[in-house]
Amino acid sequence: MRSLPMLDLHVEYAYMKPDIDAAIQRCLAHQKWILGPEVGELESKLVEYLGVQHAVGTSSGTEALVLSLRALSIKMKGQDYFDKADEIITTPFTFTATGDAILRSGATPVFVDVDPKTYNIDVSRIRSYLKENSSKAVGIIPVHLYGQSCNMDDILEIAREYNLFVVEDAAQAFGGMWKGKKLGSIGTLGAFSFFPSKNLGGFGDAGMVSTDDSEVASIVRMLLKHGGKDKYNVDYIGYNARMDTLQAAVIGAKFRFIDEFNARRRQVAELYTEGLKDFKGIKLLEILAAAYHVYNQYPIGVIEGGRDELQKYLKSKGVSSMVYYPFPLHRMKVFESGRSKAYKELLHAEQAAQSVLNLPIGPLQTRENTDYVIEAIKGYFN
Ligand SMILES: Cc1ncc(COP(=O)(O)O)c(C=O)c1O
Repeated sequence: MRSLPMLDLHVEYAYMKPDIDAAIQRCLAHQKWILGPEVGELESKLVEYLGVQHAVGTSSGTEALVLSLRALSIKMKGQDYFDKADEIITTPFTFTATGDAILRSGATPVFVDVDPKTYNIDVSRIRSYLKENSSKAVGIIPVHLYGQSCNMDDILEIAREYNLFVVEDAAQAFGGMWKGKKLGSIGTLGAFSFFPSKNLGGFGDAGMVSTDDSEVASIVRMLLKHGGKDKYNVDYIGYNARMDTLQAAVIGAKFRFIDEFNARRRQVAELYTEGLKDFKGIKLLEILAAAYHVYNQYPIGVIEGGRDELQKYLKSKGVSSMVYYPFPLHRMKVFESGRSKAYKELLHAEQAAQSVLNLPIGPLQTRENTDYVIEAIKGYFN
């Protein structure tokens, strides 16, 4: 029987081995482990690739979000943390880190429901929340879930109208675009993750902040090095959240392949879509015409026959699958007890959490394996 992982990192490494090995060897030769030359080199590559003024390497995508918000608080309010009364609007259907970063910045997350067609934040809900509560909101964090862009035209329009910052959570969307513009370069800031399973993944944790705002970029740089320009005389409550040299080397080596790999992910996704589109019992997500989707994940909504049963069946056929995410954020203890707000019912997020199943996808996944997954799903429903 076949054994199909969600993503085969062994195959990817074999494909890029000479580049990655050479990059690691270079680090072994220079021994500059903290903020070695690879970090700055990767930042320069991303400045050019994303079309932004600044890219700052961080220790993870989570820290990229936290540092972004903290830097905005310092710039906007002149204080280390937001006040609890400051609200940041985001989706409840995301990885914990998105909402957690808001709590860690001192602000209150406000969860508004998702659009059931894309599982991304429902922009009309943001608008109606702001109509009722505009004075408290300071910003929005749209999450480009699974690699598909949110509707950035609408989000920017609302942000302008209400004078809000926009931090794009582009953790799952490296190389994705909205109307030809790279995600992470559209809002006030972008936050990326290079977690190993991301489209551009390291051999451990790493992340990146992107922005055109020089002041914010320089505050982020201070915060990730304990909070000061001078490590031994600091201004702000800081972190040790630098990007690791070795990660920068690996990510820098893999960077050459990112456009090719994203195109390949899109081909795998097309096969899934073609194979599953007319299938009763399964809902496929809608792809916005203006979005260049980079498919960090390929989700299906299991609307008949039981999601967990399908997952078990696939497992019996050697096919891995994952539920991203089983709990919407507003259902988690950490966001309870007055720490966050939910705007009206979050029914679509609840439904998504109950029905979504993510199928194996990777740039080097063979057509044979993708067909095998499709046939296994069909087998279950037949
Ligand atoms: C949407 C989203 N936001 C934030 C993060 C946090 O990134 P990291 O795991 O690099 O801290 C992730 C990734 O895990 C993510 O998927």
